[in-house]
Amino acid sequence: MTDNLSLLRGHVEQALSEIGDLNALEALRVKMLGRKGEITQLLKALGSLEPDERRELGQRVNELRRNFEQGLNDAKAFLLSREQAQNLRMEQLDVTLPGKSRSLGHRHPLLIVMDEMTDFFSGLGFAVAEGPHIETDYYNFEALNVPKGHSTRDEQDTFYIDESAFVLRTHTSPVQVRVMESQKPPIRVIAPGQTFRSDDIDATHTPVFHQMEGLVIDKNVTMGDLKGILELLSKRFFGERTQIRFRPSFFPFTEPSAEVDATCHVCHGNIPAGGCRVCKDSGWIELLGCGMVHPLVLSRLGIDPEEFTGFAFGMGLERVAMARFDIPDMRLLFENDVRFLKQF
Ligand code: PHE
Repeated sequence: MTDNLSLLRGHVEQALSEIGDLNALEALRVKMLGRKGEITQLLKALGSLEPDERRELGQRVNELRRNFEQGLNDAKAFLLSREQAQNLRMEQLDVTLPGKSRSLGHRHPLLIVMDEMTDFFSGLGFAVAEGPHIETDYYNFEALNVPKGHSTRDEQDTFYIDESAFVLRTHTSPVQVRVMESQKPPIRVIAPGQTFRSDDIDATHTPVFHQMEGLVIDKNVTMGDLKGILELLSKRFFGERTQIRFRPSFFPFTEPSAEVDATCHVCHGNIPAGGCRVCKDSGWIELLGCGMVHPLVLSRLGIDPEEFTGFAFGMGLERVAMARFDIPDMRLLFENDVRFLKQF
């Protein structure tokens, strides 16, 4: 038994020094002091010894037990403090480390143009008006002097929601009607937004595109005012050297009507030997359609054409963005390729 005892002491010391975590510590405790533990067994065995032997051995076994318990406590304290230190290390925060940067994205080139245009017109006292994307036939055509069966519908007959009453708006001009319905002159609004036509997709056509409508109605408004504003606009957007030209045109809701081109801001009409990609060698960039609001449209909406006159224009924003940023293909504006979008 004495031999066993010294063996066990060596064993206990070894085991204590090797404990790696709290689970192992508990396992060792059970192994030694549990109901069938090795030290427990020894203590039990003392009962069958002679009194002298029992006293002497009893002391040594008890000492072993005390030492073991002390060892357990020390190991436990060590393990706990080590764990705490580890936790602290994991939780420590270095506020001087650089933060994780997030890429913020960019404004879409179309939106840039739309915002800049809106700024430009607000500076001239224009308010922003809005209308629904799904329009009635009345607002999109009828009130704009385009009766059913009229040939100018052919260009725009498109995306009917049901048989004929509802349509995805083919231009922003219905907003003109809504504004004139709800407001008395003087009127000065722009209406930027999405428009839809069943065009086949190519480099200069997409079935969804954007326009910005302009409408001014007041006393003594003339085509000269329209020209002045468009000249300012084109110089602001395409540079001081830019000039504009009016080409006679036709829209059922304006009279007279015109289409307006601006000189190409890349070649300025001096087409280089290799050609000019931006204006396709014409020297001009198509800007918009416009005209003096038709007296019939005014009077139908309760505005006296003898007292008030006005002009309206509708500008294709993709065209402006493409010219402005030298974008060769309209589809790029809708494909959401970040490599493209990142450049603006
Ligand atoms: N709405 C016309 C179009 O989309 C443009 C336009 C607007 C013409 C206002 C005249 C006045 O083609």
